[in-house]
Amino acid sequence: MFDYLIGEGMEAVEETLEQVVSTDIETLQDASVHIITSGGKRIRPRLVLLSYLACGGKDLADVYDLAAAVEMVHTATLVHDDINDHSDFRRGKVAVHKKWGRTFALLAGDFLFTKVYELMAPYGNPYNVMMSQACVKLVEGETLQAHAAKTGEIDREIYKKIIARKTASLFEVSMIMGAARAGASDEVIESMREYGYNLGMAFQLVDDILDVIGDAEEMGKPVGLDVAQGRGVVVAEGVANGSGGYTNGAPAAVAQQLEDDDPVKKMMDRMRDSGALELAKMQAAEMGERARKSLKPLAESNIKDALDELVDMVVDRSK
Ligand code: IPE
Ligand code: IPE
Ligand code: MG
Ligand code: MG
Repeated sequence: MFDYLIGEGMEAVEETLEQVVSTDIETLQDASVHIITSGGKRIRPRLVLLSYLACGGKDLADVYDLAAAVEMVHTATLVHDDINDHSDFRRGKVAVHKKWGRTFALLAGDFLFTKVYELMAPYGNPYNVMMSQACVKLVEGETLQAHAAKTGEIDREIYKKIIARKTASLFEVSMIMGAARAGASDEVIESMREYGYNLGMAFQLVDDILDVIGDAEEMGKPVGLDVAQGRGVVVAEGVANGSGGYTNGAPAAVAQQLEDDDPVKKMMDRMRDSGALELAKMQAAEMGERARKSLKPLAESNIKDALDELVDMVVDRSK
């Protein structure tokens, strides 16, 4: 993705990611390398590099470690998220907790998070504060989501708050840090923040849609988990329009009421029929358009075009 612009930078980021997890404790090393080398779209580090260049940055190497740090935060959250979401596959491979067990997966996630300090330290302030604020939001979002899934209390407003924190926060900080490092004005930094926020919101909306209509093999992770566990836009929309969601109580209770051999499949069918998916897709497209508009203050360049193109790639993606 945009290798003609940032291919070299992304290679450097990959190298850094692999090097920084080196340790003589084999389990940590193996689990880290397992998740890091499993692929992944690397959208967040690309945002850092593109934002830096779009804002006139001249020495791309200056943001390599920032880009690696953002991807490291993301990777750590995936290792922990798969424990919380009872998800056995990630990036086309068996999840870390499935291969090494929960204890080592928790520790591997901690290890990856801790490595973020090392990558971020040379940047000093305000970058470290920006990053820590984004991480706090991410954890808040995941916590809010766990509460909502437990109680079955999820509506559009709560859903929006959850995804703004758990996902858009990291997209935002990627854009902000790249722009700030390039010496952009406060006004441009704010526009880049808006781009990141809206792109991140669209990204998670599409991720949640794909949990119902996506292809598990193509995505490299299971489908149907959000519906089964009471998460995601489709569930929130179903509740909001009163037709497809959990209208009374937690998912497990609803699953029992359905009296079906495969309650999750049946619920997914209900979601498909409820119009929730179409609504969610429209919301994703709208957030995408907002992201696009935020690019206006940027000077015309092939980097700006790439950020524009990325909006369509995120909204129309199937993996
Ligand atoms: C997955 O993120 C978690 C979400 C925020 C939806 P990605 O879809 O970016 O995961 P990878 O890095 O490509 O595996
Ligand atoms: C996870 O969201 C977002 C994180 C902050 C880790 P999801 O739970 O929807 O991500 P997937 O579907 O497991 O990749
Ligand atoms: Mg998950
Ligand atoms: Mg998901």
